[in-house]
Amino acid sequence: MLVLALLALPLLSTASVHERHGAHAHSHTASKRLPTTWHHDSDHPVHSLFRRADAAVSFAAVGSDEWAAGYPAGPPASPDVSALPAAWVAALNDAISRKVIPDVPLSHNASDGGSPTYPNGADPNSPDICSATYQCRLPGDIWDGPAGTIGISFDDGPEAGTADLLGFLGEKNQRVTHFLIGSNILYMPDAFTKMFNMGDDIAVHTWTHPHMTTQSNLQVVAELGYTMQLIHNSTGGRVPKFWRPPYGDTDKRVSAIAKEVFGLTTIIWNQDTSDWSLTETPPGTTSDAIAKNMQTWLTGPKSPGLIILEHELTKESTASFIAAYPVMQQNGWNLVSLAALVGGNVTYQNAASNTAAVTNVDIVNAKNGAVAAVGAAGAAGSSASASGASAKSAGAAATPTGAKTAAGSGNSASSSPSSTPNAPSSAAPRWTTGPTALLSAAVLFMLWK
Ligand SMILES: *[C@@H]1O[C@H](CO)[C@@H](O)[C@H](O)[C@H]1NC(C)=O
Ligand SMILES: *[C@@H]1O[C@H](CO)[C@@H](O)[C@H](O)[C@H]1NC(C)=O
Ligand SMILES: *[C@@H]1O[C@H](CO)[C@@H](O)[C@H](O)[C@H]1NC(C)=O
Ligand SMILES: [Zn+2]
Repeated sequence: MLVLALLALPLLSTASVHERHGAHAHSHTASKRLPTTWHHDSDHPVHSLFRRADAAVSFAAVGSDEWAAGYPAGPPASPDVSALPAAWVAALNDAISRKVIPDVPLSHNASDGGSPTYPNGADPNSPDICSATYQCRLPGDIWDGPAGTIGISFDDGPEAGTADLLGFLGEKNQRVTHFLIGSNILYMPDAFTKMFNMGDDIAVHTWTHPHMTTQSNLQVVAELGYTMQLIHNSTGGRVPKFWRPPYGDTDKRVSAIAKEVFGLTTIIWNQDTSDWSLTETPPGTTSDAIAKNMQTWLTGPKSPGLIILEHELTKESTASFIAAYPVMQQNGWNLVSLAALVGGNVTYQNAASNTAAVTNVDIVNAKNGAVAAVGAAGAAGSSASASGASAKSAGAAATPTGAKTAAGSGNSASSSPSSTPNAPSSAAPRWTTGPTALLSAAVLFMLWK
């Protein structure tokens, strides 16, 4: 039975998605100043790949057969890069031709499952490679939180620990960020819908959880793109703004593809619980060891703020967070959903805040008419209400069964002119050169920074 096969897959994938961070010794370098917002340029390619609230677009109900069709299989398979949407490949090739994707050699999986290595002894800490696995911090990637804060997040969901976690978070009225494995969402649509409707922030953790520095450019596009697409189609049209590489494995090339093609900012961490290994045989860590580490971190210096790597992989990993939560509170930390914290409450690329509507700005056509775009943004922000946002506020008011609402009713409020999604932008230049265009560029710049 197909259903049985689907049910069994999360168990299989559990074995393959475990984080292996044993080699990580997390150094504490000086806290980096964090920008307050990351709105991307209005003509970032991601906005033509995942259009804002196109007129008459409606999304299939989350969990339906129609919703699940059209995505590649999960691990151990890898997405077939010859079947990628042409627009994604074109966006990658465009970024390469603009010379914004560095030509870093692919790393190789270590035979013992440890950290990937680069060919010919290339130095992973050289500025040209800058591998996060080797603790090299790329400018623009996020490792630390602002002082006094804990940015809370969980990797690998939806998974076996998700139900307990959401129950606890609901009791505490605590919002968090979920870095989700795209293929897991297909197997646990209800858990996905529940976290979204609770108001949690949804971010990307790839489709099949590989070491991303081992993946070709096209494979990187596939891992991020399908996860973005499924989240987009399951949240009333939101476009995620943050991703976390599995195993913390990214480098200058991978982070550049995430940023330049998909507008994603990379988030790593500055403390690691190794909670994924609680249920290994033999266990890689114990709940006592995690509690001790938590005690040290939570009673230690408040600067930089903490970004602690935790998982919703198993009930055991979730329990280690639940046990530490009162200690976080007792020590005076400001506990905030990670994406909201580092994004200044802007957790999606196409909404003004983590709870605001996905507005119906026609961002692609706006390239050629910035003034119109500004007007449309204002109007949309004040009057139009996209379905995703209403579902979200309904969820915040604890209304159950938001699934169909969140994804099913589409963007009927949208009034943007309809044009073919993913169509190449017109032959006209992106910015005309007259004084009006310059003025509007300046206005847009101020609005978007
Ligand atoms: C995402 O939703 C759009 C709008 O309904 C639909 O055209 C598209 O096929 C969906 N994508 C996938 C992969 O299901
Ligand atoms: C490394 O392993 C992953 C699976 O985790 C696979 O997708 C990838 O192609 C491998 N890369 C290399 C360079 O062998
Ligand atoms: C984010 O939202 C919270 C709750 O509404 C608020 O207290 C906080 O000041 C906001 N942060 C920023 C940077 O806007
Ligand atoms: Zn992971």
